[in-house]
Amino acid sequence: MTGEKNLQTLLAAMHPVLREGEYVYVLWPHGRPLAAGIEAAVREAEGLTVVLPRAEADALGLDYDFVAAWITLEVHSDLEAVGLTAAVSRALTDAKISCNVLAGFHHDHLLVPVGDSARALEALAELAATNASDPEPVREVRLRNEKPEDREAILALAAEAFSVSPVTGLPVEGEPVEVDILRRLFEAREYLPELSVVAELDGEIVGHVISTRAWVDGLELLGLGPIGVAPRLQRHGIGSALMRETVIRANAAGERGIALLGSTEYYPRFGFVPSASMGIEAPDKKWGDNFQFLPLAVWPGGVHGTFRYAEPFAAVEGDTIDRAPQ
Ligand SMILES: CC(C)(COP(=O)(O)OP(=O)(O)OC[C@H]1O[C@@H](n2cnc3c(N)ncnc32)[C@H](O)[C@@H]1OP(=O)(O)O)[C@@H](O)C(=O)NCCC(=O)NCCS
Repeated sequence: MTGEKNLQTLLAAMHPVLREGEYVYVLWPHGRPLAAGIEAAVREAEGLTVVLPRAEADALGLDYDFVAAWITLEVHSDLEAVGLTAAVSRALTDAKISCNVLAGFHHDHLLVPVGDSARALEALAELAATNASDPEPVREVRLRNEKPEDREAILALAAEAFSVSPVTGLPVEGEPVEVDILRRLFEAREYLPELSVVAELDGEIVGHVISTRAWVDGLELLGLGPIGVAPRLQRHGIGSALMRETVIRANAAGERGIALLGSTEYYPRFGFVPSASMGIEAPDKKWGDNFQFLPLAVWPGGVHGTFRYAEPFAAVEGDTIDRAPQ
């Protein structure tokens, strides 16, 4: 897929949001402890530049020239969003609005002259509308079985998808634990080839889900996870497609039920309910309602016991408890 096509999608979905208040750039006095209200800072050889609310700069008696409105582009920006920033700057330049761009880990932020904020929002809305009215050609996401030669790409995808913790929303240091779980699941005896499914877009693996053998009281069930979608393509239905495909395949294979640890906002839409309500205890009681279960067509009912995941999960259990997606 080309950057240009992605850019169009990003521009159409950029969601500019105006923060309340006025912001200023000031040169922070050398040696002074940083104030709590500082929103951004850049250290240079000549000194420290900070951005903070105007009222706070006034209270601290700091000088400034540029009084800005702060607009956040709520779309999740990643490397591809470099093009997004350039397109946004161009649109604002065309509208004769000066703009300073701050890139955060999640989003881009625009500081425009406070008197121009309404016009800036208009220009951005126009840019989004232009791109929405000329959508990229429909391209199909293809779901297929994972093949051993896909594994490196899948591990790289998982590293990217879990580089921000689903629990804390913070960047993960080092390799996310989900990558090692996957690596081990591929080699585990609980691995089920038909239930390791990739989503492919133009030959690129952009999503993956795996379900592996698990048990309750000797009864064979499935444990789903990890599931991951390339960050730049999240919220486009790929995760849902992988979830639905898993349910279809599991039913076709005569499986009885699927358990997972995950968000109570996301998985109920696929029919998952708190597992305790079905008589299935989580491996760790702390997981509470986040441990969920989907009874499949041949669910026998009357099952009680504690769920046991495939061995590779046990190997990192202490870690996964704190990293359970919420
Ligand atoms: C979770 C994930 C697989 C979902 O895939 P996706 O392709 O982005 O999801 P879809 O486009 O099918 O669904 C998007 C919807 O799910 C919601 N959603 C996605 N992840 C969610 C989460 N963790 N919590 C709550 N809601 C979530 C979105 O808000 C959106 O809701 P809407 O339809 O009401 O707008 C994907 O976001 C991802 O890879 N996340 C990082 C890794 C991760 O957290 N994996 C799950 C834990 S194992």
